[in-house]
Amino acid sequence: MKRVTEIIPGVHYVGVNDRTKHRFEGLWPLPQGVSYNAYLIEDEKVALVDTVDAAYTERLLENVREAIGERPVDYLVINHMEPDHSASIHAVRQAWPGVTIVGNAKTLQMVEGFYGIGGPTLEVGDGDGLKLGRRELKFYLIPMVHWPETMVTHSPSEKLVFSGDAFGCFGALDGAVVDEQMDTEKYWDEMVRYYANIVGKYGGPVQKALGKLAELGELAMVCPTHGPVWTTQFPKVLDLYDRLSRYEPLEKGVVIAYGSMYGNTERSAERLARELAARGVKRVVMHNLSVSHASFVLRDVFKYSALVIGSPTYNMHLYPKVQELVDDLELRVIPSRVFGCFGGFTWAGAAVKRLGEFAERMGWEMAAPPVEVKQGFTMEKSDGLGAMAEALAAAM
Ligand SMILES: Cc1cc2nc3c(=O)[nH]c(=O)nc-3n(C[C@H](O)[C@H](O)[C@H](O)COP(=O)(O)O)c2cc1C
Ligand SMILES: [Fe+2]
Ligand SMILES: [Fe+2]
Repeated sequence: MKRVTEIIPGVHYVGVNDRTKHRFEGLWPLPQGVSYNAYLIEDEKVALVDTVDAAYTERLLENVREAIGERPVDYLVINHMEPDHSASIHAVRQAWPGVTIVGNAKTLQMVEGFYGIGGPTLEVGDGDGLKLGRRELKFYLIPMVHWPETMVTHSPSEKLVFSGDAFGCFGALDGAVVDEQMDTEKYWDEMVRYYANIVGKYGGPVQKALGKLAELGELAMVCPTHGPVWTTQFPKVLDLYDRLSRYEPLEKGVVIAYGSMYGNTERSAERLARELAARGVKRVVMHNLSVSHASFVLRDVFKYSALVIGSPTYNMHLYPKVQELVDDLELRVIPSRVFGCFGGFTWAGAAVKRLGEFAERMGWEMAAPPVEVKQGFTMEKSDGLGAMAEALAAAM
């Protein structure tokens, strides 16, 4: 029986699944878990690429021993210092005291700063190489994807790249490791959610990184730090990361994200959805912001071409859950979306005005005039939603 963890001869998957953590980075829910991927290259020298979260250190060591027995690890390559990957460095050093830690100047500074770990280390710069025997590894810096020290490790002879968080996604690995050996369906939306929330601010640096990776020539296998190893489906992954990092929507559709306490703003949201459907818009995605976690809403804002936000006026501001979304979007500097807004108030309206100011700060044009309902929802008061639906349908 073939070992599914030996992804190509001499390269082993030694990562772990986390099906326990409630929130990744303390923020992002993990309904399908997450994997922390580490890889072991067996050559004249043995190199481990990245480690795993602190909770799974023992499993990483077990996986390494299962792959190479009592052979020591000679090198530990650190592509990314975020602790979901770096937290087991100390344990690796303890298990194999001769191990040389390989990283760029920023990485080695962080290894010292986080964990008080020093030599033996090997500092590498952009384009430097490290001979393991049959293979030579090459290192390329991809700063700000999504930390400043991030780099990728290329094995040219195998057309293989260890890409760090780039091309990663949420979702644990259910048995198989390589895309060809599994049904990858569950990962696509989780890739967009991972990208939008964690990397979404850094479209420019991701574009630069993609340019640099293109110079490596054909890539037969891409090994990220989260999710499947990509081979035949890598073109789809690359296209997704390319479009997301250009802030290009992946599909035509309207996201309606709203807050509501007593149902009036919600009825406006329902009416807008109906008006869209009546005009043939098939993809309408509703998010009640008191229920949907922000990470799923952000995913859909990255994914779809149009966004409409609805909010009651709340102490002369936006409803808090709406404010949270607006702040998240501003932080990610999305350059353009088809946009509309609606809101409600009882004595002095502010919600629609604040949403207009938000659109201005984003540099987004309003597809249609905002609709503001005073006190109870009625069809008459919300008639502007018909015109808004007309404009949105025309933009599809
Ligand atoms: C805590 C709280 C603060 C509010 N602040 C304002 C306000 O500053 N100005 C205003 O006109 N209405 C204010 N309202 C009234 C709501 O905006 C209004 O009732 C709206 O219709 C509620 O929409 P909903 O039914 O979708 O929850 C407030 C309501 C609550 C509960
Ligand atoms: Fe990271
Ligand atoms: Fe990560």
